[in-house]
Amino acid sequence: MISLENITKRFADGQRMLTVLDNLSLRVDEGDFIAITGESGAGKTTLLSILGTMLRPDEGRYVFRGEEVGGMSCTEATLCQLRNQAIGFVYQDHRLLPQFTVWQNILLPTLATKPVATDDEQRRATELMDFMGIASLKDRPVTRLSGGEQTRVAIARALINRPALLLADEPTGQLDADNAQSIANLFRKVNAELQTTIVMATHSAEMAKVARKRLRLVAGKLLHVIYC
Ligand SMILES: Nc1ncnc2c1ncn2[C@@H]1O[C@H](COP(=O)(O)OP(=O)(O)O)[C@@H](O)[C@H]1O
Ligand SMILES: [Mg+2]
Repeated sequence: MISLENITKRFADGQRMLTVLDNLSLRVDEGDFIAITGESGAGKTTLLSILGTMLRPDEGRYVFRGEEVGGMSCTEATLCQLRNQAIGFVYQDHRLLPQFTVWQNILLPTLATKPVATDDEQRRATELMDFMGIASLKDRPVTRLSGGEQTRVAIARALINRPALLLADEPTGQLDADNAQSIANLFRKVNAELQTTIVMATHSAEMAKVARKRLRLVAGKLLHVIYC
């Protein structure tokens, strides 16, 4: 599905340049569930942002389903479409829209090019709420949800356009251990039952255990590939 080849990403750090990703390569196969672990500041978010095409690598190739996308401008139409249709995102802080309900937040990504969701999209939203165990919360404003419930809404929203790839950046970072475990199980279910490829960044070794492949980001490179 994805091939990152010799990716380098640097940021200005005062007068110096900080090399965050250093000649990094990664292959993601269809159906994979990959966890990227690493210390805070290791570059996990940077790597996910490149995978999500929100950030361009300075060097290297990014091929998504046969198409070279690494060199495209972040505002290019092909890239916007890829980002909206093929890739779903879950962030640690959810980034739900506080003035809207659960239902409205989940349907939001379907409204990029039109004012109302189709019947099919509304059916999908209902199925996803069932899948996530949040059907009873449909009309509740998202500001009146627990952290675990907000994470479930964020995952449903990320899946509404049936993306091939789901990117999750520290999705359980703000949850207690029990909630984190049930969200971990949910990701496993999404991977197995909805056939969604997942790349998840986490600093938690415990959380990484739900993934079938684990990679560790150290000094800008991916190490310790473990297949289970
Ligand atoms: N836009 C940016 N400008 C400058 N430095 C950045 C930027 N984004 C990230 N960094 C730096 O890159 C390093 C990796 O950050 P990040 O990818 O957020 O790591 P992680 O998600 O693993 O905690 C950090 O040192 C961070 O300060
Ligand atoms: Mg991060």
